Amino acid sequence: MNLSAVLHAPRDLRVEERPRPVPGPHEVLVRPGAVGICGSDVHYYEHGRIGSFVLDAPMVVGHEAAGTVVEVGPAVDPARVGELVALEPGVPDRTCEQCLAGRYNLCPQVRFFATPPVDGALAHLVAIDASFAHPVPAGLDVEQAAMAEPVSVGVWACRRAGVGPGDRVLVTGAGPVGLFAAQVARATGASAVTVTDVSPFRLEVARELGFGALDAREPLAEAFDVLLECSGAAAAFTTGCRALAPAGRAVLVGMGADTVSLDVPLLQGREITVTGTFRYAGTYPAALSLLASGRVRTDVVVTHRFPLAGTDDALTLARRDPRSLKALVLPQE
Ligand SMILES: NC(=O)c1ccc[n+]([C@@H]2O[C@H](COP(=O)([O-])OP(=O)(O)OC[C@H]3O[C@@H](n4cnc5c(N)ncnc54)[C@H](O)[C@@H]3O)[C@@H](O)[C@H]2O)c1
Ligand SMILES: [Zn+2]
Repeated sequence: MNLSAVLHAPRDLRVEERPRPVPGPHEVLVRPGAVGICGSDVHYYEHGRIGSFVLDAPMVVGHEAAGTVVEVGPAVDPARVGELVALEPGVPDRTCEQCLAGRYNLCPQVRFFATPPVDGALAHLVAIDASFAHPVPAGLDVEQAAMAEPVSVGVWACRRAGVGPGDRVLVTGAGPVGLFAAQVARATGASAVTVTDVSPFRLEVARELGFGALDAREPLAEAFDVLLECSGAAAAFTTGCRALAPAGRAVLVGMGADTVSLDVPLLQGREITVTGTFRYAGTYPAALSLLASGRVRTDVVVTHRFPLAGTDDALTLARRDPRSLKALVLPQE
């Protein structure tokens, strides 16, 4: 059997036995040691849906996972048993137009952990395509490896923005995604990274990581080459865009502001580029190497840990504790 954190309906999370997963021919069976709780898990927990994805059957939550390979399917190298791996949660079909164009994050057939109807990874055991179980470099522990998922969001945002040497980068939103994106931007060559938020605690953490940290309600005096919008607040996008220098690039990472207004004369006069990001593609090796080198730190971002039986507490942490950032569930405890 397989003890799993199963969401049955909004605010109805049960830790219960599910059948033991059997790895397919090209899959590995992994024992997750750490699973991060993401805003999307919380959203399904609170509302039972995100846009057109509706929880209409019980679903295992969690998609930020790392763990140890305990078994392999017949087509997978048995030497992988015992390997520490970070699980890339979205497995595309590999055959559609988007996959063949190398944009597998845009695959319409992608099966992504904890996105209805696909079960997530918050369980004693989970099966995944062997190519999406990325070997973790020496020196990283399972908790750091689990953070390769939100770090990947930052890697992809920096790639889409073309962050390079000398760029002045503004990150709006100092949640886990913003704090990881800011660290990736610095590691990618940004000469200065400024982070904004409205939470004093989160600004404190941004300062501890060595970033310029500003209350989002204060005016922005400087000009930036890149805006990584990681708050989901429409106001952050508007203010951030105004702070961009000519030829600036704005990337909408944050979700929540379903519409934002575009200042057309500003976009034209400064030739600003605006794009969104959808998850990531081909980022795990980079994310893991940034973590292994210490250029992306998780220690101040991971603020809370829970045993599997405490998954409910992990899912309600954000609304209960203003001094929280990333919660991890340790499924083997
Ligand atoms: N595009 C993607 O593929 C992708 C992937 C993962 C997460 N996300 C999105 O990224 C966003 C960040 O994720 P997170 O886990 O860090 O969430 P989070 O809620 O922990 O962080 C958001 C932060 O923004 C701050 N904020 C609110 N209003 C602000 C404003 N006006 N200016 C600056 N900051 C403000 C909040 O105080 C909070 O600290 C979420 O919207 C999430 O849905 C997108
Ligand atoms: Zn595809």
